[in-house]
Amino acid sequence: MKKRIIVTGGTGYIGSHTAVELIQEGYEVILLDNLYNSEAEVAGRIGQITGTTPVLEVIDLCDASKLDATLKKHSGADAIIHFAAYKAVGESVNKPLEYYRNNLVSLMNLLDSMRSFSIPHMVFSSSCTVYGQPAILPVTEDAPVQPAVSPYGNTKQIGEEIIRDAVAAYEQINAISLRYFNPIGAHASALIGELPRGVPENLVPFITQTAYGLRDELKVFGVDYDTPDGSCIRDYLHVVDLAKAHVIAVERLISGKNKNPYEVFNLGTGKGVSVLEAISAFERATGVSLRYSITGRRPGDIEKIWADPSLANRELGWKTLSTLEECMRTAWAWENEIRKKK
Ligand code: WQD
Repeated sequence: MKKRIIVTGGTGYIGSHTAVELIQEGYEVILLDNLYNSEAEVAGRIGQITGTTPVLEVIDLCDASKLDATLKKHSGADAIIHFAAYKAVGESVNKPLEYYRNNLVSLMNLLDSMRSFSIPHMVFSSSCTVYGQPAILPVTEDAPVQPAVSPYGNTKQIGEEIIRDAVAAYEQINAISLRYFNPIGAHASALIGELPRGVPENLVPFITQTAYGLRDELKVFGVDYDTPDGSCIRDYLHVVDLAKAHVIAVERLISGKNKNPYEVFNLGTGKGVSVLEAISAFERATGVSLRYSITGRRPGDIEKIWADPSLANRELGWKTLSTLEECMRTAWAWENEIRKKK
């Protein structure tokens, strides 16, 4: 019988790409999403790619009784991959209580339901933001977690702690937290990708929207950092590579190959790329030149971070395969696809 995986936030950016990979690996996938930041038609697009349209349950995870009813309906799930969360860093500063309530109540409700319905495994969507500005680069999983700069980042830190403590207390639950660096790009089919609301906060959606003519120019937030070209450095990885890591993490838990009841892995390429290098990669990959100007630093930005992904390489047998140019090409194809529809 097919293993059944519940994917919360399943119509969102990373959730939808993960659903595709799971279905292609033979899993049955149930999507849970409140459609706050995504669209129901994504389930159909997953179906177009894979030949199997997953069931979509439109549900708010903060509603514990509805959540229980939904998991009862789809009983016998083998694992939950938990993506559903608010994720806008800037917005979280102005709406901290909404962020804490939404991101943490939903997580606690899920953990409660896992106990009630004997769902033994969770993969949690965490973030490299837990490291703040690391003293040593590349950053390993042992680097200290630093006080979060934003309420959003704090929900990821607290989320990890809640899971760690729940796994310690309840023997029947095992979990893996995956700390993502900067996911970018879109599925090669251009049928799914990131759908930012309003003005994008993140670099790559801003680049593709500017190239398309929706924004006048990209503003590069600071070239006076202590980096080779002065702009900030991040570790950008393709969302499909990231999605595949979730399939491996689920398999690891289901087959009992995990070495501890709670494990944490960095997911990145291991390569730092500056903002100016990212712009050049976009131009090279697409042949489109980008209008940009240099402006002041963005408050809250860290100077440089990139992953040491060797634990994930070794333990999960996972590494990124796509180049930065492929990331940019697929992001650009997706931008063009979205605009075609509108
Ligand atoms: C990347 C670089 C900007 C926009 C985000 C989340 C964080 C985590 C990782 C999930 C920075 C620069 C950006 C622009 C620019 N995600 N930039 N002009 O800041 O690394 O973090 O992804 O948990 O929580 O905040 O990503 O894409 O916003 O920025 O120059 O218009 O691009 O200064 O150096 P960031 P980003």
